[in-house]
Amino acid sequence: MSDKATAFAPASIGNVGVGFDMLGLALGGGAGDRVTAARSGTPGISIEEVRGLDGEIHPYLSTDPKQNTASIAAQALWHAAGAPGGASLTVRKGVPLQSGMGSSAASAVAAVVAVNALLDDPLELAELLPYALEGEQFASGGLHADNVAPSLLGGLVLCPTVLLPDVVRLPVPAGVSAVLVHPELQVNTAHARRGLARGYSMEQWLQQQGYLAGFIAACNAGDVDLIGRTLRDVIIEPQRAAAVSCFDSVKEAALRAGALGCSLSGSGPSIFALCRERDAINMASAMAQACLAHGIACQSWVSPLDAEGARLED
Ligand code: HSE
Repeated sequence: MSDKATAFAPASIGNVGVGFDMLGLALGGGAGDRVTAARSGTPGISIEEVRGLDGEIHPYLSTDPKQNTASIAAQALWHAAGAPGGASLTVRKGVPLQSGMGSSAASAVAAVVAVNALLDDPLELAELLPYALEGEQFASGGLHADNVAPSLLGGLVLCPTVLLPDVVRLPVPAGVSAVLVHPELQVNTAHARRGLARGYSMEQWLQQQGYLAGFIAACNAGDVDLIGRTLRDVIIEPQRAAAVSCFDSVKEAALRAGALGCSLSGSGPSIFALCRERDAINMASAMAQACLAHGIACQSWVSPLDAEGARLED
């Protein structure tokens, strides 16, 4: 039993374009949140401090344990385990806020993984999912595991709400990379979710089901060309794209550079593309150039499709 543990949880690509709320991909390349949990005399979960990557106190995130996804998730686990006493969290935010990179999920996941290590009887990684989801639900106002599941387990995860808490880790084809560009804009996920239409036509439903089924079959078969024919979103992307002024140009640049598909990451503003590994560096540069041409600064990451999920650190 430890008195202190630190965990890292990576950023993630929610929806992966084709599977709204039910498909998520862990992002490798170093973007992620780090949480240290230390036993404390105060009962329950408290937050010592939240800092950004620059080491400074985070200007926006609260240390009120009822307002932070890390503490909400950790408290749910601590309570369910009936653990005595309390733990205090130190959160180091590496994922930009409201970026579409699974920022709230990364904090919640890192927190439950760190706090789990303080328990007498720690749970398996996959068993932590429902607790991390409690934190995520607070932030996004909806129950969806497409950021929490890949951040926790790594790789590409199918996680429809109807199957939770079970999720399915999908195989990924060799030689394919993910590229993510984060334009320096912000989109509030809860707000973006409230703005979505409630009704869709049978035609849209059939099309999107076809793409999702085809994409999953492509991953199972390692069929890269089929990924290129199925990585499409005819329902959500058209409703959200206008909120990201550079989206059309970045997508066009990605497709011109040979992307298999390109869409918003989660609710945006980040934009991701899947591409052949050999094209990834040029792809990142083409997408970033298109973003900069709109006068919007950005950061980019290149990731394998089987990036590692959350882990304890020394
Ligand atoms: N599936 C969620 C959404 C992901 O698109 O609203 C948010 O990052």
